[in-house]
Amino acid sequence: MLGRHILGMTDFSADELHTLLDLAARMKRGEDTHPYLTGTDLGLLFHVPSTRTRVSFQVAAAQLGGRSYTYGPQELRLANNETIEDTAGVLSRYLSALVVRWYDMADYGAGHRRLHTMAEHSSIPVINALDDEEHPCQVLADLLTLRERFGDGLPQRRIVYTWAYSSRQKTPGVLHSSLLAGALLGHHVTFAHPPGFDLDERYVKEAHALAASSGARLDFCDDIEEAVRGADAVYVQSWKSLQLTGQHEWQARTRLADRWRVTEPLMALAAPGAPFLDCMPSNRGEEMDAEVKDGPRSLIFDQAENRLHAQKALLAMVLGSSGHTAGASGV
Ligand code: CP
Repeated sequence: MLGRHILGMTDFSADELHTLLDLAARMKRGEDTHPYLTGTDLGLLFHVPSTRTRVSFQVAAAQLGGRSYTYGPQELRLANNETIEDTAGVLSRYLSALVVRWYDMADYGAGHRRLHTMAEHSSIPVINALDDEEHPCQVLADLLTLRERFGDGLPQRRIVYTWAYSSRQKTPGVLHSSLLAGALLGHHVTFAHPPGFDLDERYVKEAHALAASSGARLDFCDDIEEAVRGADAVYVQSWKSLQLTGQHEWQARTRLADRWRVTEPLMALAAPGAPFLDCMPSNRGEEMDAEVKDGPRSLIFDQAENRLHAQKALLAMVLGSSGHTAGASGV
């Protein structure tokens, strides 16, 4: 994976995902402390706010012996309409890799296209830190968290993902990347959402094509109780507490909230002890009740911590220092 752009889940093979997760687990246990990023400079370009992604990448770079520099939307000449192409060419002469978050609430797909343009014109790896179509870094941490819970039995478990917004209204990056990851790895996943709040059909088609090879089972459902009944884990993607685009959308979501909120009675339908996951940010009383988010089933802070370990493994595999190959067996 050295030197590769990571713009979405299909930039990984299933074998590479397993290798990355193994390395992340060893790093988390303190069994691999190699300074893979010695002498490297990581740029972090965030056009929209971030707590987990931004800070975990900063700490990951430092722990691996590298340096990082964070830029906001007004700090580069992009703010004065310098082109993405020129910016990418210039930054490639200073940095070792560029982590980018870019999405546009009003123009679905624009952020993803900008990331692709940036990658096409960069001679350094570009890593997607959330655009309007994918969030691969979050999903690496989610997979690590699920593996910690279920071990090698993860493909035999059924994971439910639930949300209530459509690809045209909000950024469903976590869901598209989760769908593709499940399809690549042969998992059994159920995607539960209200009628009309579908994922982008292109991602659904791509996932079905991957599932045909991997043996993954992909279910879609518009009844949250039916989806959660017997599930081995329940994952809510924030859908109500994030910035809203207008009064109409707010009213629509408020009407849906009671029916689609993850509550204790809903979790009681899942398999005994089934964990609750949430990539955050999210608000108690909106996407889920406080009892669920703060309860014993909740893995939300493990997920947040695993952003660090998963991204350290990712950076090591994309930028690993010469003479030390991250992910090689026994490393
Ligand atoms: N889950 C996630 O990406 O969080 P941030 O927006 O805080 O980075």
